[in-house]
Amino acid sequence: MKDAFLEGKIAGIQLKNRIIRSATHEGLADEAGNPTAALIKKYEELAKGEVGAIITGYAAVMQNGKSPLLNMLMIDKNENIPHYKELTDRVHQYNTAIFLQVTHCGRQTFSRVTGMPTVAPSPLKDKLYNEDIPQEVTNFEIDEIVNNFVSGIVRAKKAGFDGVQLQLSHGYLLSSFLSPHMNKRHDQWGGSTENRFRIVKEIMERAREKVADYPILAKMNGHEKSKDGLKLEEAIVIAGNLEKASCDAIEVSCGIAEEGFVATRGGFPFAMIARHNHLMKKIPKMLHPLVKPILKRSFGSPEPRYLYNLGSAAEIRRHVKIPVIVVGGIRRLEDIQNVIQKEQCDFISMSRPFIIEPAIVRKFKENKQQQSRCIDCNYCQIGVEKTPVRCYYGKM
Ligand SMILES: Cc1cc2nc3c(=O)[nH]c(=O)nc-3n(C[C@H](O)[C@H](O)[C@H](O)COP(=O)(O)O)c2cc1C
Repeated sequence: MKDAFLEGKIAGIQLKNRIIRSATHEGLADEAGNPTAALIKKYEELAKGEVGAIITGYAAVMQNGKSPLLNMLMIDKNENIPHYKELTDRVHQYNTAIFLQVTHCGRQTFSRVTGMPTVAPSPLKDKLYNEDIPQEVTNFEIDEIVNNFVSGIVRAKKAGFDGVQLQLSHGYLLSSFLSPHMNKRHDQWGGSTENRFRIVKEIMERAREKVADYPILAKMNGHEKSKDGLKLEEAIVIAGNLEKASCDAIEVSCGIAEEGFVATRGGFPFAMIARHNHLMKKIPKMLHPLVKPILKRSFGSPEPRYLYNLGSAAEIRRHVKIPVIVVGGIRRLEDIQNVIQKEQCDFISMSRPFIIEPAIVRKFKENKQQQSRCIDCNYCQIGVEKTPVRCYYGKM
């Protein structure tokens, strides 16, 4: 019988169990985007806590793809490699697999942060990152972006990561190419599903020439909230395209940043937003009680709060042969065992539960705890914009 605590395999890599730490930006890189001692310590704690595998916070493959969040990881230079090697060596001491998530933030950043114009498949202003209208990327720039993803993957391999994960989710650049909501192009990079997928296909093809069968995973959206956003039917086709393009495993998430708390559901952390958001700072405090319900209506979390990607992930799994990982609102051991035992997905992943309890897997395994202590307040999600990640437990 299947069990969440039995070993599993992704592209031949042995994972201790079926519970993965999903990518979580920690805000603990140095100025060059290298992991700091504090970040290495955090990953060591996760490894000691018997997590099946760690997916790092997102690492940008080029400067104009850098996030405005504090201290993002970067994998844009060969000089980054020895710093990451230190991290992978430390995690491997605990016999734990670690994957580097590689990304380009696309229009979800600010030119004042990157020092360059923001770019996207189409010049559509983001509702949240709305200081600039992004420039529509040219063929030449797409070629450069593809090559930078490949270089990032080559560096990750040299740095000792067990594999990489392409971030195709949450509205970042590759996600915005895939999404009909953000990609309105009429050339070979837009229109049909095949055209919108082309940039990912190019990355996979060129990466395979350089790294052969090195594990390349992907995190994609199973659906988006926007009316013209990606829907499950098309996500299934994209998952099939990923498999054909030799992707090794798919993690299924949902939502884009401007849709609000869709990918990370739960409470609406208004107090934290009021403190950190650049737009909120322009609104006088006395107006906050009026603003809160309006914002919550537009950006608050939809239902359900738990296991909200399981339906789409299970459906995607029915259409592909590669392992499928489900993320999003997974909090109870009983639910984890159900997903694995009923073979709805091959692995489950979590983010916020590891912020409050890095050793949650060990606690589950030793039967000391049946569910995460995370209350889904989402303060961590906003707090990490300006300070390293931590659990606030619903209080400022
Ligand atoms: C503080 C924080 C940082 C995150 N950083 C990333 C990231 O770097 N890359 C990514 O794909 N998702 C990121 N996510 C989303 C999570 O990986 C995950 O998809 C989401 O939180 C839902 O899972 P959960 O309910 O277990 O938290 C982040 C979430 C949080 C709360």
